[in-house]
Amino acid sequence: MKKRQLIVAGNWKMNKNYEEGRDLAKDIVERLQPSQVIVILATPFIHLNSISNIIKGVSNLKLGAQNCHQEESGAYTGEVSSGMLKSVGVDYVIVGHSERREYFEESDALLAKKVNIVLEKGMTPIFCCGEKLEVREANQHLELVENQIKNALFHLLPEEFEKIVIAYEPVWAIGTGKTASPEQAQEMHLYIRNLLAKQYGEELAQATTILYGGSVNAGNAKDLFQQADVDGGLVGGASLKAEDFVMIVNSF
Ligand code: PGA
Repeated sequence: MKKRQLIVAGNWKMNKNYEEGRDLAKDIVERLQPSQVIVILATPFIHLNSISNIIKGVSNLKLGAQNCHQEESGAYTGEVSSGMLKSVGVDYVIVGHSERREYFEESDALLAKKVNIVLEKGMTPIFCCGEKLEVREANQHLELVENQIKNALFHLLPEEFEKIVIAYEPVWAIGTGKTASPEQAQEMHLYIRNLLAKQYGEELAQATTILYGGSVNAGNAKDLFQQADVDGGLVGGASLKAEDFVMIVNSF
């Protein structure tokens, strides 16, 4: 059985051209101290191959993608498959980010397929869930996140599920500068862990890494990461500056 891991993943989204991406990755490599924290750079596709070489040899630094197609291969113009990602050294794939759900209409059923193919290729899905503001205001956030997780993940066998990383990202906190309070994050993370315990047992639930995402920065990371059920962060804006990103990594 795996141990719960501490993870900080940088989600670069659609930022940085080729040279800028290389510079950022090199800057991060120079600043990172050896530690127990797994640091993931989830970059746009065009960077994966070159950054894979830049981070080689830094044992706790891993490569992530932000999406992949659900099919193995074929006539899907403009798409990238999980096998292609694996072939350039990707270990983690973000699945179901709220921007994918919102702008690309990714449904729970589609995300279940993406989770499956990422696992099949031996990579780790970072499965995102989280509610919009109106859902929280209607006090339905726990139920909504529960359904997102059930619909996209609970078909997995325990030996598959144990490879999953979950990222709770309240949509109202993403890119808004409005972070969930440490208490709000902890409440949801504990709710998720209890849900996992009901489905897969306490041991597996305790071993699952659950990240918080949504306006994490160098100033608030420590308070968030101190929560008992917050095992790290998925970081957007603040992952684009090496100094800030590494400060977040050092916040445990
Ligand atoms: P943010 O993005 O840190 O810029 O809020 C987080 C995310 O979308 O993963």
